[in-house]
Amino acid sequence: MKVFQYPLLCALLVFSISCVYNDLNRDHYLLSPDETLSFTFHSNEQNISYSLKKNNQLLIEKSLLGILTDQFDLSDDLTVKKVQRSNKNETWTQVWGEQKHITDNHNELAIYLSSITSQMEMVIRFRLFNDGLGFRYELPEQKELNNFKILDELTEFNFSEDSQSWWIPAYSYRRFEFLYANTLISDISRDTYSKLVEDLTGPRLGPEAVHTPFTVQRNDGICIAIHEANLTNYSSMTLQANGTSKMECDLIPWSDGTKVYATLPFQSPWRTIIVGNNPAELAMSTLTLNLNEPNKLSNTDWIEPGKYIGIWWEMIGTNQSTWGSGAHHGAKTQKVKDYIDFGSKYGFTGVLVEGWNTGWDVNWCCSGDGEAFDFYHSHPDFDSKEVKEYARKKNIRIVGHHETGGQIQNYESQLDSAFAYAQRNDIRVIKTGYVNDVSQNISRTGADGNVYKEWHHGQYMVEHFRKVIETAAKYQVSLVPHEPIKDTGIRRTYPNILSREGAKGQEFNGFMSTKDNNKPNHTTILPFTRLLSSPMDYTPGIFNIKEYRYNSPDDRTINTNHYIPSTISKELALYIVVYAPVQMAADLPENYTDHPAFQFILDVPTDWEKTEILNGEIGQYITTVRKDIHSNDWYLGSITNEKGRDLKIDLSFLDSGVQYQATIYKDPTNGGWQANPEEVVIESIVVEKNDLYKLSLMPGGGQAIRFSPM
Ligand code: NOJ
Ligand code: CA
Repeated sequence: MKVFQYPLLCALLVFSISCVYNDLNRDHYLLSPDETLSFTFHSNEQNISYSLKKNNQLLIEKSLLGILTDQFDLSDDLTVKKVQRSNKNETWTQVWGEQKHITDNHNELAIYLSSITSQMEMVIRFRLFNDGLGFRYELPEQKELNNFKILDELTEFNFSEDSQSWWIPAYSYRRFEFLYANTLISDISRDTYSKLVEDLTGPRLGPEAVHTPFTVQRNDGICIAIHEANLTNYSSMTLQANGTSKMECDLIPWSDGTKVYATLPFQSPWRTIIVGNNPAELAMSTLTLNLNEPNKLSNTDWIEPGKYIGIWWEMIGTNQSTWGSGAHHGAKTQKVKDYIDFGSKYGFTGVLVEGWNTGWDVNWCCSGDGEAFDFYHSHPDFDSKEVKEYARKKNIRIVGHHETGGQIQNYESQLDSAFAYAQRNDIRVIKTGYVNDVSQNISRTGADGNVYKEWHHGQYMVEHFRKVIETAAKYQVSLVPHEPIKDTGIRRTYPNILSREGAKGQEFNGFMSTKDNNKPNHTTILPFTRLLSSPMDYTPGIFNIKEYRYNSPDDRTINTNHYIPSTISKELALYIVVYAPVQMAADLPENYTDHPAFQFILDVPTDWEKTEILNGEIGQYITTVRKDIHSNDWYLGSITNEKGRDLKIDLSFLDSGVQYQATIYKDPTNGGWQANPEEVVIESIVVEKNDLYKLSLMPGGGQAIRFSPM
């Protein structure tokens, strides 16, 4: 210990050291309310650490805790001053969600620490739920200290077993838009990723790390996901890998290497370890939301879950229109009115219009040249007044669009005007976008006038995204960001952040060739990884699967290198499996008109009373059921990877004493993603609670069912 180098100081500190020794060598324990999880806080002269067990099996072995700053070190030479315990068991209500009510039941242990060397004080607050652990660092006001820099957060996650894991690489050029690799934890590296999934052997920046949620499944079946909750005024946490089963918190730095610019009093985001007995239980966790602050918006009447169509797939998918000016410009007034007619006829809440504004004609994609984007002047082809009046008459709203090209300063300088424009034009939901495919390429002009390049998920962007959410709320606008930062449960505090992209979505099936698009197993991984954090704007519902993409807007011949790795029944099932309070019907209106399967898209709600995940294996299959919040209908979605399979379903989730008409949308027995993906068998049967139902899923296919009380 450093004090022994300073005899004088040592004499003064003898008393506290001896107290410390008693305290330091004592472990502090915490049990989850159901007593299945047990947590231990360890401390000694060298360091502080924690471990976590489930049913007496060690899941996370001794893992370091601590923070290192430019002014003090809170990782060693610490004394435990006080230990405080508390608990909570409360149910709260969501503004919208997968379930109306959520129970926050946890036991808490707060460890009050003080540094012998600097006398700085820190509290580490641990909350143990039945579905996992959350903990955060808190620094109260003290020593007239205002600002400091976090140089490193030492938190470790040392898995006791080298388990199978599912991950996407951090510090890579396309943010979160990657297919998942499945390897042992010890095999995580960009080289492995390059061999298994996609070539990442370009210029290397940043450490060998993965994004969170990061999911593992142990040999005993237990699933664990590491993530964070309430990422506020901090930098995103990634997990650094080192060829073992031990992982370490790695914070995305600012361009000057600082991890976080902090001010006292200070709280870190919660570090979370979500635990389930199996994948389905993991995916049902509510821990992330429980670790966020309650809703801050006093009035939420203007927040509207719903379904939208839009001028989108004809650019990104079928390649027949353009965002920018010219003969093929998509967002022309008359075209928008046609979409309004279609959407209004079928009861959609919104029509997304991309390319309504100016700024698209420069080479904005994909390296951040989006300075020309204007967010409150429309393109000459788009008459905002006429469109607004027409939409109003037809009882539908425009969903706005702000592609920023990752030009944050340009966007922020227009933020108020942009959202005021939206409010004036009856726009209640805006999809934003941050396409900027170079790793560390977000321009920020510093106080010295120089331009610095920041990472997409660092503190600068965390603060930017919060600013946008708060500004949008001021103008009663909700958001669906694409290329966002990851969600950490902020939707509880700001329910106007409805959904987000933040993973490889349907768009990749649009513009990538068959060889490089999403594989049939991708959507069977998402529920156990990315979707642990929040809803996703995956944009399901493509019906034209085989021959949909033109060679160019001018060359209307079909490009045969494009084929969606899905089936229509699977596309329907995704409305249940991938939760989002605003769901897009992504295909062109003409592919829905008169199609019998379109009825499912029209029926399916986006706000739920309850959700249950009936089964699932990561990367193989999943079956989810949800009950509508406005009726007694239940819905089921089940999807599989490239393998066909039969799953026996117990219908005991249905309400008792009720007979249901089950309308089933499934692939034909000779169907699947490669054979007859566009054929749907629709049948109707009568079922009730406790009936058994056999789901026969075809390769790469799925099944969607609506259960309506008779
Ligand atoms: C990428 C988004 O994911 C996509 O939905 C959008 O159409 C384009 N950027 C253009 O903004
Ligand atoms: Ca995207």
